[in-house]
Amino acid sequence: MTRILMVCLGNICRSPLAHGILQSKLSENHFYVDSAGTAAYHIGKKPDYRSVEVAKKYNLDISKQKARQFKARDFDSFDYIFAMDQSNYSNIISLARDNRDIGKVKLFLEDNTSIINKNVPDPYYGDDDGFERVYTLIETTCELIAQKLLSNTG
Ligand code: 4NP
Repeated sequence: MTRILMVCLGNICRSPLAHGILQSKLSENHFYVDSAGTAAYHIGKKPDYRSVEVAKKYNLDISKQKARQFKARDFDSFDYIFAMDQSNYSNIISLARDNRDIGKVKLFLEDNTSIINKNVPDPYYGDDDGFERVYTLIETTCELIAQKLLSNTG
């Protein structure tokens, strides 16, 4: 079983989309996908309705997810930890206990060579169009990540 964690700030906008989209591309027999936020603001809440709506438009149900906060023990539970932006990355790394923990963390957009700015924009304070753009960016990147994971594990 390969375990993948998607992390943003609130765990209500970006990482729930990355969680749902990547999960939909991988077999649950071989991959476990989850998400978390570095902040505690929204613990226990459902994803933002705008993320739920945009996912629904593409036939993906993320409404059952519940926000939780990233903890140091997640380094033990996951093989790959993807940070949505540089600030999330720094917050995750600040909880790392050793180089093994640090080695699990990557920027989500790191291997998407068609994107120069490696931060997934935070759509929380923007308009609904922001969610559509973020969905597309996350979808194309999850496709790359899924292909890479599938080629790694056979
Ligand atoms: P997310 O977006 O990190 O993509 O879930 C945010 C959600 C909530 C807040 C900031 C970003 N907030 O400040 O409450």
